[in-house]
Amino acid sequence: MSKPLEAKPARIRTLEEYHAAYRQATEDPDAYWGAAAEAFTWRKKWDTVRGGEFSPAGTSTWYAGGLLNITENCLDRHLAQRGNKLALIYEPNDPHTRHLRLTYRELYQQVCQFANVLKNNGVQKGDRVLLYLPMMPQLAVAMLACARIGAIHSVVFAGFSATAIADRVQDAGATVVITADGLNRGPKQIPVKSVVDEALLSCPDVRRVIVLNHLDWPTHMREGRDVWYHEEVEGVEKTCPAEALAAEDPLFILYTSGSTGKPKGVVHTQAGYMVWADYTFRNVFQIEENDVHWCTADLGWVTGHTYCLYGPLLAGATSLLFEGVPTYPDAGRFWEVIDKHQVTTFYTAPTAIRSLMAAPLDHVLSYSLSSLRVLGSVGEPINEEAWHWYDLHIGKGRCPIVDTWWQTETGGIMISALADVTPSVPARAGLPLPGVLPVLLAQDGTEIEGNDQEGYLAIKASWPGVIRTTWGDHERARQTYFAPYPGYYFTGDGARRDENGLFRIIGRVDDVINVSGHRFGTAEIENALNQNEHVVESAVVGYPHDVKGQGIYAYIICQHGVPATEAERKMFEASIIETVVAEIGKIAKPDKIQLVSGLPKTRSGKIMRRILRKVAEGETTNLGDVTTLLDPAVVDEILAGKK
Ligand code: PRX
Repeated sequence: MSKPLEAKPARIRTLEEYHAAYRQATEDPDAYWGAAAEAFTWRKKWDTVRGGEFSPAGTSTWYAGGLLNITENCLDRHLAQRGNKLALIYEPNDPHTRHLRLTYRELYQQVCQFANVLKNNGVQKGDRVLLYLPMMPQLAVAMLACARIGAIHSVVFAGFSATAIADRVQDAGATVVITADGLNRGPKQIPVKSVVDEALLSCPDVRRVIVLNHLDWPTHMREGRDVWYHEEVEGVEKTCPAEALAAEDPLFILYTSGSTGKPKGVVHTQAGYMVWADYTFRNVFQIEENDVHWCTADLGWVTGHTYCLYGPLLAGATSLLFEGVPTYPDAGRFWEVIDKHQVTTFYTAPTAIRSLMAAPLDHVLSYSLSSLRVLGSVGEPINEEAWHWYDLHIGKGRCPIVDTWWQTETGGIMISALADVTPSVPARAGLPLPGVLPVLLAQDGTEIEGNDQEGYLAIKASWPGVIRTTWGDHERARQTYFAPYPGYYFTGDGARRDENGLFRIIGRVDDVINVSGHRFGTAEIENALNQNEHVVESAVVGYPHDVKGQGIYAYIICQHGVPATEAERKMFEASIIETVVAEIGKIAKPDKIQLVSGLPKTRSGKIMRRILRKVAEGETTNLGDVTTLLDPAVVDEILAGKK
């Protein structure tokens, strides 16, 4: 029998305890979240648990006046009891390459060494360090090393393009970049450093690039700017004092897409994020001392930040990092890794489940999967078919499924079942976590009472993990999240509260599309498309996609009109895709492109996306009112040419 991880306060084990915790966190949040923070190492305790103004100002603070370092809580705090316990297991892309295991003591030493290398390279508290790295253990180490010395990490998923990196470097004002020679993705090896080199042509303020040797590739190093990590780390001390940081000092910036303009840098701070990551991780997955937790997200996304790295380490758990993809060398890879490392809590995205469902069941049946205890889902609504397949074939009908709803901006899970504690129902995220006060709003901002109701999902009170600002532009954060409905945080999602009070997330109500659990703004993709010399105008919408959840459908007006020949059309499409890959990255490639001669616009020139969405969804008759269109004939042409 494994014993409870730690007798921390605020650990919920029964439905009654959940209700009691929910009541206390709602009625006396200061007492509840004060108690939850007691178990951590503080250099100085906080003066006030909650402060600032939640909404509309968006200036919430948590544990203000406190001093701490999150890495002391992730590492040093565990050394006495868990020094020899595994902190990280690294499973490489190629199953025949040896995996790596790091104990808490080894990880502590590696983080300290990396922190010293950063210091030796002039990195100071408050500096922004951009990380563009494959899923290698050193990515986790580098993030913690930044946190150890108070530098602010900004991880950019290593599938983004040079232009996307440059935008983020410039917006964050990063002066140091950490990268690697190349990365493995399934059967492919992809250069990484050369993408950074290209990006940095327009980032003269980056004075140092630290390069990790991952693939032993010959790599161009720019004299005076680029250094190899393995050379820098030689003979460097394995201890490094942790910087005492203010509770509200930024911990990281993570870029995410919104409905307007360029991606914004979501800022999370030290103490509130720490408490939220730890609390949500332990309670949702009901973590026990012997658990091996595997979150399949890349560290480049918030799910990776909170549930591959910070949550598990704060809780003293063992976390598995996976470099590869679910289908390499075959569609049994996930299940093989679960058996190999005896994974107990498994957390993945519906898109991965759907893609693996499509493969022959033999890939699953060859493995026992008997170590599994809890299954999780994140990033997009999980359809009932996928839920049942996951339950039956992976969980063998005995593992609770936690369908966790949250966002980059919320820092951690907000609405979800707590495994085997609160109800888990297909296609329902479930009940809110203690401290989360979700409401449904009508368009005019009034609260919709009662069950069996649908509306805009908003949150009525501050919680420790709430977004603090968007980097360099607080007004943008205020306008996006806190000003639309004063008194609330606006999520951008629509939701339904079912007859039992469980929440079902319907999807975005703004111009954000969710492709395989990755967020893109339609405007962001349109801006990219419009960079193509042949493109006059474009409009992008989402449409239902069997595996990805949503696909990207782009309507494009070309300079020379609709191409006359098939060859010409193919050439335009290829060129357009190339542009999106260069501007954002492969992950934002449109699934369907329709070349049109006009877009449906109102007399005031506004594109009627409603019509474009309906056409993309396959609706041909019920397009609603088209009488306000400047040129209704455009719609017939679009319908005729639909992909
Ligand atoms: O629309 C919701 C969807 O993903 C959005 C947040 O995306 P991102 O910030 O990239 O974070 C993804 C991982 C937390 C939300 O606004 N979403 C996330 N989880 C779920 C979900 N939709 C339905 N069910 C979920 N469990």
